[in-house]
Amino acid sequence: MCGISGVASFHPIHDRLYEGVHQLEYRGYDSCGVAFVENRHIEVRKDVGTVDEVDSRANLRNLEAHVGIAHTRWATHGKVTRENAHPHVSCDGAFAVVHNGIIANYRALRERLQQAGHRFRSETDTETIAHLVEDHFRRTGNVEAAWVATLRELEGSYALAMISVHDSDRIYCARQESPLIIGVGTDANYVGSDFNAFIEYTKNAVILDDGEYGIVSKDSYAIKRVRDGEVVEKPVMVIPWDSELSRKGGYPHFMLKEIHEQPQAARAALAIENSAILALVQAMAEARRIYLIGVGTTYYVALYGQYLFAELADVDVLPVSSDEFRYLDKSDPNTVVLAISQSGETYDTLMSLRHAKERGAKTAAIVNVVGSSIARLVDHVLLQGSGPEVCVVSTKAALAQMVLLTRLAIELGVVRGKLSRGSQEAACDALHRLPGEIETLLNERSGLIRAAAYRHAHMHNWLFLGRGIYYPIALESALKMKEVTYLHVEGMPGGFLKHGTLSLVDENLYTLVFVPPRESGELYTLTVSCVEEVRARGGFVIGFAFDPAPGLFDEIILFPPAHAITAPLLPLVGAQLLAYFTATALKRNVDKPRSLAKSVTVA
Ligand code: AGP
Ligand code: GLU
Repeated sequence: MCGISGVASFHPIHDRLYEGVHQLEYRGYDSCGVAFVENRHIEVRKDVGTVDEVDSRANLRNLEAHVGIAHTRWATHGKVTRENAHPHVSCDGAFAVVHNGIIANYRALRERLQQAGHRFRSETDTETIAHLVEDHFRRTGNVEAAWVATLRELEGSYALAMISVHDSDRIYCARQESPLIIGVGTDANYVGSDFNAFIEYTKNAVILDDGEYGIVSKDSYAIKRVRDGEVVEKPVMVIPWDSELSRKGGYPHFMLKEIHEQPQAARAALAIENSAILALVQAMAEARRIYLIGVGTTYYVALYGQYLFAELADVDVLPVSSDEFRYLDKSDPNTVVLAISQSGETYDTLMSLRHAKERGAKTAAIVNVVGSSIARLVDHVLLQGSGPEVCVVSTKAALAQMVLLTRLAIELGVVRGKLSRGSQEAACDALHRLPGEIETLLNERSGLIRAAAYRHAHMHNWLFLGRGIYYPIALESALKMKEVTYLHVEGMPGGFLKHGTLSLVDENLYTLVFVPPRESGELYTLTVSCVEEVRARGGFVIGFAFDPAPGLFDEIILFPPAHAITAPLLPLVGAQLLAYFTATALKRNVDKPRSLAKSVTVA
């Protein structure tokens, strides 16, 4: 969940270590720290707060060392305190460890180590590792042997980096169910929990697999298997991302930048070779059961997919939230499980895929991060190519996933004879117009939406309603608003409202209704009925609509006309802007909302 960064260099590392952890702050940001060896002892500087806050108090950059590790934490075990912040050191101060994930058997290990005389200073599961290495080092007198013996005792998920006074030129690292990457530079080598830790300095990377550990020094690195110590030769991959893209580029927040990158993200999704789409479509056409899985935003993307496949291909797919998948999974060799994940590291989604794979299912994924665990696990991968998404809340990645699902549904519709060539062409043309339509919307509607957001930012309770394919749009829009504003926003199918929730409608609740274009016929008229129901109870209704409807809404934001197949994505972008501007009106921490993390790699 957290960010790990490490540098071993020919030169002092102060800026690179700091920059690495700074670039990873979006992965966890309740506390942070660094550890390095100076004058034959390990120095740790850490505290609660953002990297900049901790830097101003603990001076993270004032150091001469050539080797160091750093961490930003997203607490799982133990409160957000200085003592619980990483790095954690052994009793004798000779080993310092940073960790991402959860050590499942830490209680038993901690008890054993305490009985052996180790004194613990934190409540974390991570500290156990530092004491365990110290314990094994006493027996073996060799850092690598102690590291391997430690790893063999750990259960659970981890990415780890460690330094030691006994081998002060090297960083020891390891991976089990949590990503860890080695960056290969010219005057330094790096470790990182993702590319952003070192992409400024090198684009050459080697990805560790589960059960492997690495030893990294300024001019070399080695990767070995924990099981038998065998050296593993791995290819060096070149990261296809531009470090420039990871920076804000003039926008006040990554969220706004990434909302504005959506035309580009949609174009990248449309540029993916049709052969890659068709290979997956073929597997789907042959399957007897298709699951679409994701969690949070990507679950809503999956739900969006369900409507697309029903409408365009006449195929039932089962959308399941990855965290619930294990309770519902009926996979067999005739099943396709298609996972959706921006990071490609989400624990719930990764575990669901493994579960389905064990039962013989074929697996596929739409993923943004190249080389991620999910991308490497599945039989078919569609790399969406949206570029780095840094803001914790997903915008451009989700939109691009919806575009890709639309492409899949169109092609499956053709293969199954449900969609004529003419309809296929019309649908593809509509998709190609989408980037331009989003550009128009961003240019022409942002001001109106910003004004509405600032006008209504005082309202603490919201209902977001949509029917049909606008229902997942309402859910995803509500999640965006909740995540970044901390307001209570409930997404719901429009028709569901009268079965209970209508009782909430009063002057303390506003309703946003996602209204389809008038040509949608019954979907339009039934959506309008929901608006009437709320207004009949004195509720305030804002319409996100394509057609003027004088007197129907209290306020309306009109969207430019669009084809039925792409129309839902325009108010989605509108709702992202509403969430963003409401958050800025409320002075929220937009790119790093409280209690969240970019990739959730724990159960
Ligand atoms: C998105 O705004 C959320 N922060 C979150 O729901 C996210 O979509 C979810 O954790 C899944 O992440 P993934 O796409 O990286 O798998
Ligand atoms: N389990 C560790 C802790 O709570 C690591 C959490 C993380 O991934 O940041 O400190």
